[in-house]
Amino acid sequence: MRIDVVTIFPEYFGPASGAGGPLGVSLIGKAAARGDVNFHIHDLRQWATDVHHTVDDTPFGGGPGMVMKADVWGAALDAILSDKSRSPANPSTPPAAAASTSCSSAVEPSTGSSAADALATPRSIGDSATPSASPARPSTAPSAAEPPSLSPPSAGSAAPSTSAVPSVTGARLVVPTPSGVPFSQERALAYAGERHLVFACGRYEGIDARVVEDTRARGMAVDEVSIGDYVLAGGEAAVVVIVEAVCRLLPGVLGNERSASDDSFGGGGGSMHGLLEGPVYTRPRAWRGHEVPPVLLSGDHAAISRWQRDEALRRTAERRPDLIRRLAAGDGLDARDRAVLIQAGFPVDGESMAH
Ligand code: ADE
Repeated sequence: MRIDVVTIFPEYFGPASGAGGPLGVSLIGKAAARGDVNFHIHDLRQWATDVHHTVDDTPFGGGPGMVMKADVWGAALDAILSDKSRSPANPSTPPAAAASTSCSSAVEPSTGSSAADALATPRSIGDSATPSASPARPSTAPSAAEPPSLSPPSAGSAAPSTSAVPSVTGARLVVPTPSGVPFSQERALAYAGERHLVFACGRYEGIDARVVEDTRARGMAVDEVSIGDYVLAGGEAAVVVIVEAVCRLLPGVLGNERSASDDSFGGGGGSMHGLLEGPVYTRPRAWRGHEVPPVLLSGDHAAISRWQRDEALRRTAERRPDLIRRLAAGDGLDARDRAVLIQAGFPVDGESMAH
């Protein structure tokens, strides 16, 4: 899998060697070292054309903060998608970790091929309408003579499901934003099946909505995705979260293939599917007076599995009752599950669960 990240803070992802930073350590670092995943980190400012490398401007319609410029993002995406080295016929195959994570200072403009050309054709957005030769931080909103922004971006609500929209480019653009669709284990699984993910890290008030609109119009799959109901200073931390969730699902990345399907949320349909994982223990058997639950020492695998599911049910009911309601609605609870939940004080009959 190839992963491109476009950001105004490339240093966030560590040195170009991949020796440090969140993408260079642990399972992901090893996957990169093996060449299972190739990271390409790009500084958005290299596509800014003015002397100040301006990437933002004041919002049409007024309001606080700044909006990232469509023309700069358009040029960045065109260049990345027309990079011939990303084609499977001409794969970039760095031999070692040091090359697996590259921090590009320039991706050449397209002379491109095939589907990439569709995105690399001359652009119409923003090129003439964007205030030019302006100070790095103009203090006034664009004038009424310029094209108005008709409405705020429609945010994540219009984002297609990950499987429904094939991308003519063979790549998927992921834009982390608090107004995106929720990132989930299912979405992580879907992304793990992609050949090429491109992450666009927004800062300030976000990216001009026409970038997503235009990229979709050119046939590329685009998701605007939120990692939770809180607002970060930018998309970089969200990219690290998403990349980690996706890369651990790549074949061979987890040592124990079973572990992914038995995770909390267990996307693979294992016994923990739809549940939070229960407590886990290791040696010593007794620690500061706390004993490991005896069933785990019994060697009775059926009893252990049942106990683990019971614990997962109790924990999920306490911490995420919404997940239990979803399981119940989808016929995901058997009679024993229901008995465990009732015993734990969680109502599982239809009427009371609705609330
Ligand atoms: N950028 C800022 N906040 C975010 C969030 N909650 N999820 C994804 N991207 C973000």
